Amino acid sequence: MKSFDEIADAVAGVPFMSPDQGHIVYEHVRRTAPARVLELGTAHGVGSAYLAAALPPGGQVITVDHAGAAYDPSPERVLSQAGVRDRVEIVRQYSSYTWWLKERLAEGCEGFDFVYLDGAKNWTIDGLAVLLIERLLRPGGWLLMDDLHWTYDEVRDREVSDGVTIRGLSDEERAEPHLRAVFDLLVVDNPAFTEQRITDDWWGWARKRLEGEPVRRGSVQIETTKSAGALVANGLRRGVRAARRRVRG
Ligand SMILES: C[S@@+](CC[C@H](N)C(=O)[O-])C[C@H]1O[C@@H](n2cnc3c(N)ncnc32)[C@H](O)[C@@H]1O
Repeated sequence: MKSFDEIADAVAGVPFMSPDQGHIVYEHVRRTAPARVLELGTAHGVGSAYLAAALPPGGQVITVDHAGAAYDPSPERVLSQAGVRDRVEIVRQYSSYTWWLKERLAEGCEGFDFVYLDGAKNWTIDGLAVLLIERLLRPGGWLLMDDLHWTYDEVRDREVSDGVTIRGLSDEERAEPHLRAVFDLLVVDNPAFTEQRITDDWWGWARKRLEGEPVRRGSVQIETTKSAGALVANGLRRGVRAARRRVRG
């Protein structure tokens, strides 16, 4: 196991996972000691570095991105600099992680203890991804979803975001956070999961229920690692964005 500080130093200045977020995933992995971790959405490999650093001996991270994903610095370089390259398998030969997940389901893969979903932020892609993840998680394994409140309105000046043509989306599809809908409709209200919780209004967690464990539907614990002021500021920013959308509409 490498220390959190070693990784934070090695990846300093590289997008996308912040040190605060890195600390949360690092501590989660350290506490739960998963043998097999899956990250969907690699980018430069910063998230993989934090995940891999906290693994127990013999643990492994598989991280999946588009076939064409080209980042500078590359995940290979970032993971080598962090000293965890040997614990991470980088997969890039697929158009989408949904197809990679389909292949794993079809081959009867041994499953994962922790899946970190940090990719498209799209209902169609990640709704399917979550249903496949539910099948591929081992009982007791955890799902973590990033970007719960992200919306296409945040990138409305772009043509395309992660393969989705923004012009082709309805106003509602641009305004509504897709991952929050995935979390609320496919994770919270899903008897396969338990211990659903939201951290800092941005991350959604759920644990796959063990056999015989009581079903708990529809309840979500809300927690925060930030100051009340920071959360109020985030809420206000979202309120302003919603008001702008109403004015535009
Ligand atoms: C925010 S970045 C990931 C950041 C990384 N997890 C970290 O912690 O630093 C999102 C990544 O998801 C990838 N992605 C988006 N949709 C995808 C899909 N359908 N299949 C594979 N990769 C996808 C993008 O190419 C991008 O590299």
